[in-house]
Amino acid sequence: MSARITLVRGDITRQRADALVNAANSSLLGGGGVDGAIHRRGGPDILADCRRLRASHYGKGLPTGQAVATTAGRLDAHHVIHTVGPVWSPTEDRSDLLASCYRESLRVAAGLGARTVAFPAISTGVYRWPLDDAARIAVDAVRGALAAGPEGAGAVARDLDEVRFVLFDEVAYRAFDEALAARG
Ligand code: APR
Repeated sequence: MSARITLVRGDITRQRADALVNAANSSLLGGGGVDGAIHRRGGPDILADCRRLRASHYGKGLPTGQAVATTAGRLDAHHVIHTVGPVWSPTEDRSDLLASCYRESLRVAAGLGARTVAFPAISTGVYRWPLDDAARIAVDAVRGALAAGPEGAGAVARDLDEVRFVLFDEVAYRAFDEALAARG
């Protein structure tokens, strides 16, 4: 049975889930918005893990569209999955990079045996992606990953119970609600 997709209005750092997704930047060394909140409430163990990743597999930083997991520190979760969203561009279509953030985060979550994954609205803050378009891309990417056959991200469908979008304000909530409704 495929995972439920749910919407919650709130602060992702106060969510309980097996994995919380962070809207990080390539440095993995923190920032503002979701990134700042996750490191602030999650505590120094998250940054210590990020530093270890930079010192080993990600010497040049985490590329846009990719995802990597660390401890969740003091957050009510087992893992934080850091993903780097694309900065919105009026001239270049980076939609697939944004979709990749969701697909790759779900793939990493499935690999960790996570059953519940919570996402913020990636790229819609500092990275300025228009909310309605970002919501459409997010919903399509998650639905596609959950529906993919055993050859693709199918492992995701088997293990997940819930994919939760955690929206920080009413405007974002409405954008995701409409995207869910519009896409059947
Ligand atoms: N919980 C849930 N959503 C949040 C929270 C929170 N605590 N704080 C902010 N948001 C929302 C914002 O309102 C926005 O809709 O998350 C969305 C993503 O905003 P950002 O955190 O700015 O992320 P993004 O647009 O992907 O930009 C990433 O910002 O913080 C830096 O280090 C980060 O350089 C990276 C860039």
